Amino acid sequence: MIQKPKGTYDVYGEMGRKLRYVEQVFSALMDRYDYEYVATPLFEQSNLFHRSVGDSSDIVRKETYDFKDRGDRMMTLRPEGTAGVVRSYIENKMYGDIDLPKKLWYFGSMFRYERPQAGRYREFRQLGVEVLGSPDPMMDAEIISIPVNLFRLLGLEGVKVRINSLGDQESRNAYREALKDYFRPHLGELCHDCNERFETNPLRILDCKVDGNTELMKNAPKMEDYLNEESKKHFEKVKEYLDALNIVYEVNPNLVRGLDYYTHTVFEVEASVEGFGSQNVLCGGGRYDLLVETLDGPHTPAVGFALGIERLLTALDYEELQVGEEKELDIYVIPLSDEDKGYAIGLSQALRLSGFSVDVDSLNRSMKSNFKQADRKHSRFVMIIGESERENNLLTIKDNHTKQEYKVTIDEIIDFLDEHMDSCDCDDCHDREGE
Ligand code: HAM
Repeated sequence: MIQKPKGTYDVYGEMGRKLRYVEQVFSALMDRYDYEYVATPLFEQSNLFHRSVGDSSDIVRKETYDFKDRGDRMMTLRPEGTAGVVRSYIENKMYGDIDLPKKLWYFGSMFRYERPQAGRYREFRQLGVEVLGSPDPMMDAEIISIPVNLFRLLGLEGVKVRINSLGDQESRNAYREALKDYFRPHLGELCHDCNERFETNPLRILDCKVDGNTELMKNAPKMEDYLNEESKKHFEKVKEYLDALNIVYEVNPNLVRGLDYYTHTVFEVEASVEGFGSQNVLCGGGRYDLLVETLDGPHTPAVGFALGIERLLTALDYEELQVGEEKELDIYVIPLSDEDKGYAIGLSQALRLSGFSVDVDSLNRSMKSNFKQADRKHSRFVMIIGESERENNLLTIKDNHTKQEYKVTIDEIIDFLDEHMDSCDCDDCHDREGE
């Protein structure tokens, strides 16, 4: 038997329902924030990620799925969404739109060749947002508010927001030099990767999983001491706006994030539920004011975030929150014989186009097991199609709640369903209304 690739999973059944539900809640939230949907290719030219996510990042150094296509071009399955969205913004000259800033959201698979473990997959799905064209710290706060409000809507409570500022280029350069001066005498104590990071991106040493908790790391110079006035002002404003939004946060001076393109604000939201596991960062993001220029576009300040949907679903399970409950079916149709099937599917099509959900038995079940199937699907009505129904265009329809049976002409069926679908006198519905 051929098995799925390591680090991937199939979406079906309950997982499918949950995934669609979260996507729908997010999509509706994005409408309320007035964001537009964007979709970019699953693969891009490899150098897009080298130049954006960065050659010093673990993602590009160790985790990309690279391949040569049949035209001998180097391609990469996207490890994240920001680079593709920025490429699309530049290539489609979105910066020329009157409607700026461009506020975009996306949902889709990302690919990283990582060591699979709970909460870490090789194909995973992200919900993400990018705002291109606004330097305003108010936008940083808006971006942080989106996942926080998504969690509020889903009822998820155990989350913690951590923020930091990496400052503008001038501040970052000053900090970079300070870190190099600090770590230079200690290179022998640092892991192999950190020795490489010392040359390529010393900020990432602070984020090291191996050396992370040592005294050396704790006593390292802090970014906040190297922020210039402009950067300090930006960060103060972000905090002020977060307060205005009633968002509780913690400033973590060692938060640097694993991608190279960030400037100013960076943030992560973590599931702070005991026992959740080490992969507890539900989402992360920040400002990247220089990336559009790095990819040959016009100067465009930007900010965004992405959220790992698998981790979010695990967090919802942890808090025992029900999402994406089984849907109820409106009508379950039973054709009594093969001769009745053409009529049954014709009628079902008309009902579906009128807005009702309909399923038709295609397994020639017995009447008894068909009624069981209708119950399993929580079907509100059951419709039986036999010779007499076909010839007289008089339908037999049973209300599966009240168990009452009706004869309704085909011309009146839509009106009948419209009238009866929402009003039900059965005990179950009464109980539910009373809850
Ligand atoms: P990231 O921190 O690399 O940022 O990923 C964002 C989220 O994706 C993580 O917090 C995590 O929930 C999820 N994630 C990452 N890797 C995996 C994995 N292997 N398995 C499961 N979930 C994973 C970015 O991707 C940036 N593009 C975010 C951004 C957007 N910054 C600005 N705009």
